[in-house]
Amino acid sequence: MLASLGLSWCFVALCLAGVTESASPQIISLTSRRAPKHTVARRALSSVAVPLRDYFNGTDLQWYGDIQVGTPPQNFSVVFDTGSTTLEINSVECGSACANQPQFDQNKSSTFVDRGQIAKIVFSTGVGVDPVVGDNYELQLRSGTDTVAVGGISVANVSLFLITTQTPAFDIDPFSGIQGMSPSAQGLFGGLVDQGLPSLFSFYLTPHDIGNAELTLGAIDNSKFQGNLTYAAIVDPQSGFWQLQTSSIAVNGNLTTIDARIFLFDSGTSNMVMPAEDAEAIYALISPKIQPFAQEPNAYGIPCSEVSSLPAVISFTFTSETGSPFNLTIPSSELSVGPFRSNPDVCQTLINSMEDVWIIGASLLKHYYSVWDLGGQRLGFAPVSRSVATGCVL
Ligand SMILES: *[C@@H]1O[C@H](CO)[C@@H](O)[C@H](O)[C@H]1NC(C)=O
Ligand SMILES: *[C@@H]1O[C@H](CO)[C@@H](O)[C@H](O)[C@H]1NC(C)=O
Ligand SMILES: *[C@@H]1O[C@H](CO)[C@@H](O)[C@H](O)[C@H]1NC(C)=O
Ligand SMILES: *[C@@H]1O[C@H](CO)[C@@H](O)[C@H](O)[C@H]1NC(C)=O
Ligand SMILES: *[C@@H]1O[C@H](CO)[C@@H](O)[C@H](O)[C@H]1NC(C)=O
Ligand SMILES: *[C@@H]1O[C@H](CO)[C@@H](O)[C@H](O)[C@H]1NC(C)=O
Ligand SMILES: *[C@@H]1O[C@H](CO)[C@@H](O)[C@H](O)[C@H]1NC(C)=O
Repeated sequence: MLASLGLSWCFVALCLAGVTESASPQIISLTSRRAPKHTVARRALSSVAVPLRDYFNGTDLQWYGDIQVGTPPQNFSVVFDTGSTTLEINSVECGSACANQPQFDQNKSSTFVDRGQIAKIVFSTGVGVDPVVGDNYELQLRSGTDTVAVGGISVANVSLFLITTQTPAFDIDPFSGIQGMSPSAQGLFGGLVDQGLPSLFSFYLTPHDIGNAELTLGAIDNSKFQGNLTYAAIVDPQSGFWQLQTSSIAVNGNLTTIDARIFLFDSGTSNMVMPAEDAEAIYALISPKIQPFAQEPNAYGIPCSEVSSLPAVISFTFTSETGSPFNLTIPSSELSVGPFRSNPDVCQTLINSMEDVWIIGASLLKHYYSVWDLGGQRLGFAPVSRSVATGCVL
């Protein structure tokens, strides 16, 4: 199967311009609102479980689930993306450019309000494990507000963006939009917290063979992981990203030269991403046969025949909130994300390079149950429970 048709997303820049079109849209920073540590609400919302589907087309590195927009509700699949903040949804205005995905018709929603701001969003990781080329993942948007529901709970007046056109790279999406899940509790999640939902969510991003992937809003499902969760405080919460700093990275137990790096934890990105120097330091300890793949700049490959015999356990060491080191580890089974379309004898490896960006993507996240604690501004991890997959339930 082809590796390059997985899906990934990462917010880079949201540019807003006046409706009267300014020649060069300026990049603005969106206001971030820190979620209250203790929610005060007369009637707290109980948690919401959202089943996620796995986009499986050669790689199981992308998950998405349903939300409903408007009154009466129109049903759409979205990626729940911890690497971005806002909600973007395909609209009928996008026409043939969005023909492959269901589109929101704002004229059929009695609660939609057009907010009239024109915007553009560019993603630094795009559809597929393929590296992004230029601006090939770009959405043109118009702002609005409407009622949005998830798991049976609705929130009125949620800020969102209608996708009015998109670049062709988005055509293969099996979903209609992106729901940002950054640590700043805006939009849909902010509205849920305002209604009394505890200010955290949890991801169970299982591999294809386990299935039953799930997003839990407002709670932690203890049945889905082994042992205890280890928490770490996020670095620079004002950045609007879920970030932790490594102290070291090891391959098969051997330390690389890489020390302190700030990684963005991104549920919307399939591959791992880091600068070429760091990617190559890791690859050097796996095999000298891993080399840049000339036809796809910033991707690396290895002859597929070599993959199964190679140990490639990559451990990232972070520091817990109690000051102890802990590891998050990618097993050897993630080394290959599948053959390149242009040369099926060469398999793409799990790290793409990009200057000045460090991203932990699905290759790692799918091996842990993860808790994204907005109120506590921290991340929690525990190994996923595999009892279902291995048939070892006693
Ligand atoms: C929403 O659409 C998905 C398919 O995309 C379907 O599985 C689900 O049942 C739909 N939900 C509702 C409430 O219509
Ligand atoms: C919505 O309705 C208005 C007024 O009838 C019309 O001008 C507009 O084209 C419609 N928009 C869409 C997306 O259908
Ligand atoms: C809805 O949201 C918009 C923009 O976020 C805000 O200006 C407006 O006051 C809100 N309306 C209500 C009724 O809350
Ligand atoms: C899955 O891969 C096949 C083979 O490359 C491709 O033709 C098809 O469009 C892909 N499906 C999706 C939903 O991307
Ligand atoms: C989990 O934490 C509890 C309470 O601190 C402790 O008693 C237990 O031994 C821990 N379990 C594991 C597997 O570490
Ligand atoms: C983390 O992994 C490294 C490399 O395998 C190992 O040396 C270290 O003991 C591990 N640390 C913990 C806390 O497990
Ligand atoms: C470290 O790498 C060497 C080869 O360079 C290898 O022989 C050794 O087993 C590795 N150490 C561990 C702990 O895997």
